[in-house]
Amino acid sequence: MKDRLAEIESEALAAIDKAPDIDALERIRVRILGRKGSLTQILKGLGKLPPDQRPEVGRTANQIKKAVEKRLKARKKELKSGGYAGLLKGFDPTLPGRSRPLGHLHPITQAMGLICAVFERMGFDIARGPEIELDFYNFEALNIPPDHPARDMQDTFYVDEKVLLRTHTSPIQIRTMEKTSPPLRIIAPGKVYRCDSDITHTPMFHQVEGLMVDHDVSFAHLKGILTAFVHQVFDPQTAVRFRPSFFPFTEPSAEVDIQCVICRGKGCRVCSHTGWIEVLGAGLVHPEVFRHVGYDPEEFSGFAFGLGVERIAMLKYGIDDIRLFYDNDIGFLHQF
Ligand code: FA5
Repeated sequence: MKDRLAEIESEALAAIDKAPDIDALERIRVRILGRKGSLTQILKGLGKLPPDQRPEVGRTANQIKKAVEKRLKARKKELKSGGYAGLLKGFDPTLPGRSRPLGHLHPITQAMGLICAVFERMGFDIARGPEIELDFYNFEALNIPPDHPARDMQDTFYVDEKVLLRTHTSPIQIRTMEKTSPPLRIIAPGKVYRCDSDITHTPMFHQVEGLMVDHDVSFAHLKGILTAFVHQVFDPQTAVRFRPSFFPFTEPSAEVDIQCVICRGKGCRVCSHTGWIEVLGAGLVHPEVFRHVGYDPEEFSGFAFGLGVERIAMLKYGIDDIRLFYDNDIGFLHQF
C-alpha cells in the first residue's frame, strides 16, 4: 500500500506541474481527489485494512492529500497570473497578422455600376425584369412581328413555344409602362441571352435599357443624354456617332458608335478596321408600343435605348476579345 501511495503522489505532482491550463488542472484534481479519485478510494477503504496498518496508511494518505492540494493551489495561481504568457509560448503577438488576399468585383460588375451611377445622377430610377421571359414581352408587345428575323431559333434560346431567355432588356420597357403612368425615367440593367459567339459577341451578355416618357420628349433629348453619358464614362473628347437604323419598337431609330479607344480610330480587329464600335441601339418609342400599354401617343412621346455593357467595358479597359471576361482566368481578372 505504501508503494501505491508513493506512486499516486509522484504521478499527481508531475501531472500538476505540467498542466497547461486551469481545465487540465481540474481534471487532475478530480482524478486524484474527486469522489471516485484514486486517493479518495484509499481513504474510504481504510476500514477494510488490518487494524495495525490503518494509522500509518491513514497518516501518509492525508499527508499526500495535503501536498497535492497545496501543489494544485500553487499551480492554479501560477497559471492565472502568467496565463496568456503560458498559452503564447513560442508565439510572438507583436508580429503582423497574415493578410488574406482580397477579391474584387468582376470588371463587368464594375462597368455596370459605373454606367448605372451616371444615369442615376441624371435622375433615372432602376427597374428590373425576369431573365426567363414571355415571348409576348420580348417580341409581341415590342411590335416585333412573328416573321421578324430576331425571332429566329438561331438567335433566341427558347424554353418552349411561349417562353424564352430574354434577348434584350427591352421587355422591361413594357413591364414598367404597364404599371406606371408617365412621366417616367428608368434604366433597367440585366443579363440577356443570344445564340452568338465571336470576339465582340457572347451568348450571355449584359445590357442597360433606358426609357424616358413625358410630354414633348424629342430625339434631341436622346442625343443629349447619350452624348453626356459617353463623355462621363470615357473622356469629353470621345467621338460619338449616331447612325440611322431600324428597330420595330422605335421610330426613328439609331445605332450609336463610339470611336474605338483600342486603336484610337485607326482601325483594328476589335472594330473590324472601321475605327468605330457599336455600343447601343436607340430611338423614339414607336406609337404602336405606346398603344400596347395604354399610353396615348398623341399626348406622350419618349425615347429608349439599350446599351451593351461588355462593349463599354472592352473600350473602357482596352480589352480586345469579349470572351476574356468569361474565361475565369484569374490572371486576367486580377488586373481590374
Ligand atoms: C437591342 O438589343 C435593342 N433592344 C436596343 C434598343 C433598345 C433599341 C431600346 C432601341 C430602343 P441590339 O441587338 O443592337 O439592340 O443590341 C444592343 C447592344 O447590345 C449592341 O449595340 C451591342 O453593344 C450589344 N450586343 C448585342 N449583341 C451582343 C452580344 N452577343 N454580345 C455582347 N454584346 C452584344
